[in-house]
Amino acid sequence: MSNAHDSGVGSSRRSSSSALLSADGRYEVERLLSLQLCMSPVPLPENVLANWRNWSSDQAESVIANAQDRLATAIDAWQLTDLAPMPGGEVALVLVATSPAGEAVLKVNPNLAGDTDVLATEPRALALWSGAGAAPQVYATRDNGLTMLLQRVRPGTTLREATTDAMSIVGTLGGLCRVVHQHVDPQRFCRLADGSEANGWRRELAGTREHDELERLLKPSSDDRLLHTDLHRINALRSGNRWVLIDPKPHLGDPHADVFGFMYGAPLRDIPHQLAVGREYLRKLTATYATAAGLDRDRVVAWLRIRALAAALWAQREDPHWARELFHLLETLD
Ligand SMILES: Nc1ncnc2c1ncn2[C@@H]1O[C@H](COP(=O)(O)OP(=O)(O)O)[C@@H](O)[C@H]1O
Ligand SMILES: [Mg+2]
Repeated sequence: MSNAHDSGVGSSRRSSSSALLSADGRYEVERLLSLQLCMSPVPLPENVLANWRNWSSDQAESVIANAQDRLATAIDAWQLTDLAPMPGGEVALVLVATSPAGEAVLKVNPNLAGDTDVLATEPRALALWSGAGAAPQVYATRDNGLTMLLQRVRPGTTLREATTDAMSIVGTLGGLCRVVHQHVDPQRFCRLADGSEANGWRRELAGTREHDELERLLKPSSDDRLLHTDLHRINALRSGNRWVLIDPKPHLGDPHADVFGFMYGAPLRDIPHQLAVGREYLRKLTATYATAAGLDRDRVVAWLRIRALAAALWAQREDPHWARELFHLLETLD
C-alpha cells in the first residue's frame, strides 16, 4: 500500500524532526521525552490490549509498542490535547481529542499480520461515505491509513442506545447500505474472497456443504460493491439528525454479504421460539432490511445462513451463549 493516502495536518512533521536530529541530537531526546509524557496521560483500554494479545500472541508486545509509538507520533504531529479513551471499542485505540481545528477522534488501528491491508483502508471507505453524509469526515491519516483523525460526531448515540426494536435496527442499517455499497475501483480495496474474514469462514465451514455454497457466493462478479463487513448497531452513530457509520472492515464483494446486523443484539435475541412465529419474524426482518437496502431477500437469507453458521461454529468454542442464539436463528430460517 502506498504512502500517497497519508494526508492532512502535520503529516510532514515526523520527517522534519529527523532532519533536526542530524543537526542537533538533543532534539531527539527532548522529542522522545515529550512522546513519553504524551503517552502516559492516556490509559490504554485493557479490553483492547487483551484482544491484541489474543489475536497476535507471540507478536503482541510488538503490536502494542508499534501502536503506542504511532499514537505518540500522531499526538505530536497533529498537535492533539485533552485525550481520553472512548468506550465501546474492541479493535482499535479510539480517543477523543482536541485538535487545533477543534474536537476530533483519534483512531489507531493495530498493525496485525494478515489484517493490516483491510484495516488501513478504513479511512478510504469512510471518506467515500462521508461525501454522502453517511460517515464522519476524515480530517487526516498517517501510517498508510492505519492511524486517522476523524470528525467527532454529535450526539454520537449508538443505534443500540437509540432503540431496542429489531425492525428499526435492520431497517436503519439497510438504509445506510444504499450509500455503503458503492461501485469502487477494485485496486483500492481487498476482495472479500481474498481477505482474512472469508478465510475464517472457510476454516469454520470446512467439511460442511455450506463451504461450497460460500465459495459460490464469494465468486467475484461485476455486481460486487464496497462492503462495510462489520455492519452492526454499535457501529452506527447519530450525527445531528441522521445516522452515520463508523468502523468498517472494507472489502469488495457481494453486497448481500453485509448481514452482520442480524447476528447481534435485538434482531437475533428477539427471534420468537415458536417455529411458525419465529419464521414469520425472520421473513419480516429480512424483507425490511432487503427493501431498505435495495437488495434481493433470498440472497440476503443465503448469506445470513452462511455467516451465521460460520459464526456459530466459532462461538461454540469461544462464546456458547452467542452460539445458542445463532443456532436458534439457523433452525428458524426457512
Ligand atoms: N467519529 C466518531 N465520533 C464519535 N464517536 C466515535 C467516533 N468514532 C468512534 N466513536 C466511539 O468510539 C467507539 C469505538 O470506535 P470504533 O471505531 O467502533 O472502534 P473499534 O474498531 O475498536 O470497534 C464507538 O462505539 C463510538 O462510541
Ligand atoms: Mg466498533
